[in-house]
Amino acid sequence: MAKLVFEDTEEVHELANGAPIAEICEEAGVPFACTEGICGTCVIEITEGMENLSEFNQEEEDFLGDLDNERLACQCKIKGGLVKIKF
Ligand code: FES
Repeated sequence: MAKLVFEDTEEVHELANGAPIAEICEEAGVPFACTEGICGTCVIEITEGMENLSEFNQEEEDFLGDLDNERLACQCKIKGGLVKIKF
């Protein structure tokens, strides 16, 4: 199991390894629009565990440009371990 932690509320959610994080982020209040990696509405900041997310995909590279600690919540999956996010 993997853990997704929302830094502001300290909410912890358990997900299967390899699961997309979109649904849990949406429930926690991250806004979504296109869900296809085009609009950028769902940008989140990763404060811990970036290595535990799937690789940046083409949509994220196109939208985020220089890749640092931001991700598109509609595009990434959690590989395992713990990931902490802020939005
Ligand atoms: S919802 Fe549009 S980029 Fe994620």
